[in-house]
Amino acid sequence: MAEILGIDVGGTGIKGAIVDTEKGVFITDKIKYGTPQPSTPESVMVVINQMIEDFNWKGKPFGCGFPAIIKNNTCFSAANIDDGWLMKDLQTFFFEHTDSQVTFVNDADAAAVAEMRFGKGLGRNGTVILVTLGTGIGSGIFLNGQLFPNSEFGHLLYKKSVFEHYASNGARKKKELSYKDWAKELNTFLNHVDLLISPDLIILGGGVSKYFDTKFGKYLEVATEVVPAAMGNDAGIIGAAMTCQEALAS
Ligand code: BGC
Repeated sequence: MAEILGIDVGGTGIKGAIVDTEKGVFITDKIKYGTPQPSTPESVMVVINQMIEDFNWKGKPFGCGFPAIIKNNTCFSAANIDDGWLMKDLQTFFFEHTDSQVTFVNDADAAAVAEMRFGKGLGRNGTVILVTLGTGIGSGIFLNGQLFPNSEFGHLLYKKSVFEHYASNGARKKKELSYKDWAKELNTFLNHVDLLISPDLIILGGGVSKYFDTKFGKYLEVATEVVPAAMGNDAGIIGAAMTCQEALAS
């Protein structure tokens, strides 16, 4: 059994669990801390080290989903995280602070990796996009089983800024929108995505996806099939651990 710690750093929360990467399930309880504000590298490392202690994981490799563009373990954007992370070599920085070899992946890409292997993407070919609806909007695209990383569709231009400022779950809360009004914005976003990449399946993730059937799914009108994620908010942790496991095996 491959057991790896997965940590999902988000704009609002930092979540982690030890994952059985062959089954895609947690083998410990999930632990969640608030993301420190401001979310400077130093303050986030305090939380990460606390988590390492909670899971007794000192010095062992782990996977980390991060809410930014990640290329070769370097952070290339900072929309929902402090600017201090910009252009940081995450692997070196984490190693200096944790003594662990850490593998990084964009948080939405991590969630997509898990949903494709164990969730609603299982057995689906063609173009599948997972959209995470959290503090921001993340996107993870798979084409014929292969990840196309860092798609960042939440940052497509819309109205006075970008889609994630109108259609994320964070925007729904901040603007105190009803599910119906929020779903109008989400619907515009999903139709835009549909036009851009003509996916075969759209999976909606993030914690709010559990209300798809009861609160907002009925307001969406998209030509392509739209389904709620099977793994909700846990997919990011599981995908981060899977990405680490793959890196260790290669
Ligand atoms: C970031 C993405 C991230 C998404 C969800 C966006 O603001 O740019 O990298 O995937 O938030 O956390």
